[in-house]
Amino acid sequence: MRIFEWNETHAVHVPEVDKEHQQLFRLCDDLQRAMMAGAATSEIQSIVDDLVINAAHHFSHEERRMRAADYPLYAWHRRQHHAARSAVRVLERRIRRGDRDAVLELLDFFARWLNDHIRLADRMLGAYLRNHERELAACAS
Ligand SMILES: [Fe+2]
Ligand SMILES: [Fe+2]
Repeated sequence: MRIFEWNETHAVHVPEVDKEHQQLFRLCDDLQRAMMAGAATSEIQSIVDDLVINAAHHFSHEERRMRAADYPLYAWHRRQHHAARSAVRVLERRIRRGDRDAVLELLDFFARWLNDHIRLADRMLGAYLRNHERELAACAS
């Protein structure tokens, strides 16, 4: 069983980003519980929809923050988001056709993604954004 629980090792120390990550963890946990409980397809679909929408908004939000702060690793980071978007899109299509295996694959995908991408790419971004904000504050004072 996958464990979807946000902890300090996932913290990027940018409050809005951490909040969005926590929400993604919560939705994955809800989805896993619903699958284990043998929930109805409509319930599974509604959690999947929420998860996909939240992930899309989250990626766009991070990309906006990167552009606004002239993040030097923007292209590298965005490529990782694009790969995730494509993987999720393919699985989402299968889920919509009633394929329950695809739900498990989606959970596997997010279990890896939430740990690997957040702990490396997002934490690097968090450190950069915090520094950038400190520099802006220093310039303004
Ligand atoms: Fe990211
Ligand atoms: Fe993220």
